[in-house]
Amino acid sequence: MSAFPAGQPTAPYLDAVISYGFRGPARFHVPGHKVSGADPGLIHAFGADALALDIPQDIEGIDIGPRPTPYERAEALAAAAYGADRCWFLTNGASQGNHALALALAPLGARAVVQRNSHASLVDGLVLSGGLPVFVAPEYDAELGMAHGITPTALAAALDAATQATAAFMVSPTYYGMAADIAGCVEVAHAHGVPLIVDAAWGAHFGFHAGLPASPLALGADAMLASTHKIVGSLTQSAMLLVSGSGRVDVGAVARAVRLVRSTSPSALLLASLDGARRQLAVHGEMLIDATIAAAARVRGLIEAIPGCRVVGAEQVGRPGVAGWDPLRLVIDVRGTGHTGYEIAEALRSGYDIHLELSTHQAMVLVLGLAQPLEPLMRFAHDLAEAVRLLAPADPAARVSVPPPPSGAAPAVVAPREAFLGASEAVPVDAAVGRISTESIAGYPPGIPTLLPGERITAEVVGYLRALTAAGARLHGAADPSFATVRVLAGSLSA
Ligand SMILES: Cc1ncc(COP(=O)(O)O)c(C=O)c1O
Repeated sequence: MSAFPAGQPTAPYLDAVISYGFRGPARFHVPGHKVSGADPGLIHAFGADALALDIPQDIEGIDIGPRPTPYERAEALAAAAYGADRCWFLTNGASQGNHALALALAPLGARAVVQRNSHASLVDGLVLSGGLPVFVAPEYDAELGMAHGITPTALAAALDAATQATAAFMVSPTYYGMAADIAGCVEVAHAHGVPLIVDAAWGAHFGFHAGLPASPLALGADAMLASTHKIVGSLTQSAMLLVSGSGRVDVGAVARAVRLVRSTSPSALLLASLDGARRQLAVHGEMLIDATIAAAARVRGLIEAIPGCRVVGAEQVGRPGVAGWDPLRLVIDVRGTGHTGYEIAEALRSGYDIHLELSTHQAMVLVLGLAQPLEPLMRFAHDLAEAVRLLAPADPAARVSVPPPPSGAAPAVVAPREAFLGASEAVPVDAAVGRISTESIAGYPPGIPTLLPGERITAEVVGYLRALTAAGARLHGAADPSFATVRVLAGSLSA
């Protein structure tokens, strides 16, 4: 936040919920637990206070009554904190935001340019909306096995090909904390007459500290998603959808779509956590992020002193698809140890009860939060050194690196909606060549979907996914994780 945070030290929705929860109103509405009727174990676990704040929608003085209601003021404060015109609080994660944005911006039959390794929820959104994706491939670092962002050049090529596209959807930062050149992509998208939507699920803290990349909206994006529960402290499953004042996104269409994919009973606890997390971030975020950056910097040296370990980050900036980097992600390249990230992560889990965000063949990823305490990081560095030392020597010849097939290896034949909703059958993978997939399958690494609903399965794709499975990678989204069978459109003809 650059401007003086007017109003940001208040949390109107949180305060209104607290007032109602504890002033002793007679509550003859849902929920049915009435606090005292809840299971004693539940009361012990959550505390009676949390149950007292578990209130429904449509309570006078909270989300109905004189306007702006505390709920409306809370969303407006969040919009102001992010430099947005409108904010919607979400109680089904950034996933819900992707569903709503696809419904609003890529309606039935419309073409939208979509980063190939977008989160599965965006493809799910296209299943709901009937929009048609035109994919743009992310940059890929084969050595590190990491997909980065898209480049303005790649976006321009995709938009040139996708005539009459209605929007462009990209992701920044990535799971590895690498931020894309959003300003460059904004310029390209706007020159093509489409809004640029940035899935910043992992970047809700961007723009709140000088050592972090700027927020996508500050760089000109027309809408963004912030999965605020990931890093900035709201409760799991809460998130925000933010639309800028550029006028390129139809706010009415977004409002309708959000309504379509939201419960009529959103959790007051989740919503209140969004209001509180926004206040904390806007008012104290800079200092809290400072503490985390300092802790991460201290532990970095300890990790790099471990033979074979290297922290990946700032040195990536400037490589294709990487315009910035998030110091709140500790990405450790473990190739030099002779072990995979999977092996080391498993040793840390079973030997030290340490649980990481992600591990791949080449790397391990730790997610830090606001005011990350130093002590657990110091302990981690110590335990990592010990785990690497104690692991049995590995046979480097056993290392398998599986290069991904070229982008577009599985040609799109029918719309994701048609494939997903059509009658499907599971067939042995060898018999699936030439059939149309109804599944999304992405191997980690590289986390780029190899198959999406509506794409024709080729021998190359089957060979690649088999090799990935054999190398120990996980297949995200596969109905059969062993990849013995795959679901295809029933009756779809072979090529
Ligand atoms: C890029 C991206 N977008 C959206 C999501 C979905 O977020 P949520 O878990 O808040 O629904 C994720 C989840 O990891 C993600 O990585």
